[in-house]
Amino acid sequence: MPKMTFIEKDGTHLEVDAPLGLSVMEISHKHGVDIEGACGGCLACATCHVSVHPDWFEKLEEIEEDEEDMLDLAFDLSKTSRLGCQIIMSDELDGLVVALPEAPREW
Ligand code: FES
Repeated sequence: MPKMTFIEKDGTHLEVDAPLGLSVMEISHKHGVDIEGACGGCLACATCHVSVHPDWFEKLEEIEEDEEDMLDLAFDLSKTSRLGCQIIMSDELDGLVVALPEAPREW
C-alpha cells in the first residue's frame, strides 16, 4: 500500500497508509489529520488546502481553473499549494509529502 506523510501545524510528520484512489482529503480524515474538507470534495470550499512538497508537486495532474479560483480563498498559500480533495492517490505518488497550512515547511 502506498504511504504519504502529513506535516501538521506543530511540525509533527505523520506517515500513513494512503489507499489508491482516495483523495488526500479523504486520507486525512481516515487518520484524524486536521483537514476540514467542508464541501466533501466538490470544489466549493478551500478548507482542504495543503502545500505539496516540490518533489511531488511536479507529478500531480495539472491544476484546473476551478481549483485555482477556489485556492485563491485559502490562507498561507505557497507556490505548491493545491486542494487536498483534488489530489488522488496513485502508485506514482507513493511517498507524497504535504504540509497543512501554517505548518513549518522547508519549501
Ligand atoms: Fe472543499 Fe476540497 S473539500 S474544495
